[in-house]
Amino acid sequence: MAYQITIGSTGESFEANHGETILEAGENAGLDFPYGCRRGMCGTCVARVVRGIVKMPGEDLFGLMDDERERGYILMCSTYAASDLELDDIGAAP
Ligand code: FES
Repeated sequence: MAYQITIGSTGESFEANHGETILEAGENAGLDFPYGCRRGMCGTCVARVVRGIVKMPGEDLFGLMDDERERGYILMCSTYAASDLELDDIGAAP
């Protein structure tokens, strides 16, 4: 099942298929998202979830602090869509 992901500030949208991280799905759609390590360590691929549900497995994602998670920030390289999503603040420091 694919979920629709929309970037609120630009209106761009793309689909994320099962098993694709949000970063991979965006790249496969031709979007130029920021990234570094691709392993949840550097924080470069940060984004904020405005609406929707995500699955971010792993408690030891050093690129994101607990309070940043609580404010809706995710690491796109390590996060999967679990519903249609609206994201914003791509690559912005939380
Ligand atoms: S690319 Fe480094 S945390 Fe996602």
